[in-house]
Amino acid sequence: MKKLYLIGFMGCGKTSTSHYLSKKTGLTHVDIDELVEKNQQKKIKSIFQEDGEAVFRQYESETLMAINDAVIVSTGGGIVERVENIQFMKETGVLIYLKTSLEIIKQRITNDGTRPLWNNSKDINSLYEKRTRLYEMNADYIIDCDDMTIEEVGLRILELSTYKAVLKREE
Ligand code: S3P
Repeated sequence: MKKLYLIGFMGCGKTSTSHYLSKKTGLTHVDIDELVEKNQQKKIKSIFQEDGEAVFRQYESETLMAINDAVIVSTGGGIVERVENIQFMKETGVLIYLKTSLEIIKQRITNDGTRPLWNNSKDINSLYEKRTRLYEMNADYIIDCDDMTIEEVGLRILELSTYKAVLKREE
């Protein structure tokens, strides 16, 4: 079965939406960040601090490519940093970009200390712009999430005609 990859910037609601979708459909879901933490027995913040971003990116790619049973996949905001991750996701599923303005993201995660890039990035605007280009270039679908609740975003995904087709495809 093809997978449904939720992509987008930190704080855009990928994890919450994947939980919602999984509840609503009964399909299995997985969160790459959670899996990395479980596999490494370490918080992402500590991986960044102790091993560095490059090591985290390696764990992230390996985790992505090792998922086999889950259908709904919540990715980390930086999954698009590696071309091979994008290629892999395109080959194995559909990419849905949860587009959210930086203004809304700032309201949500400014005080969240668990995201090292958010907390340490000197120029979050450039990171946001660079990532936005990558999400938009590679997404099969873009959902404008600014004025939507998680439920509304989830329902919009369920409405996508290809969603059903994706799930039916036994590849
Ligand atoms: C990152 C986003 C985080 C997490 C890590 C790096 C990024 O995931 O993977 O902190 O590079 O944007 P969320 O998008 O779930 O916050």
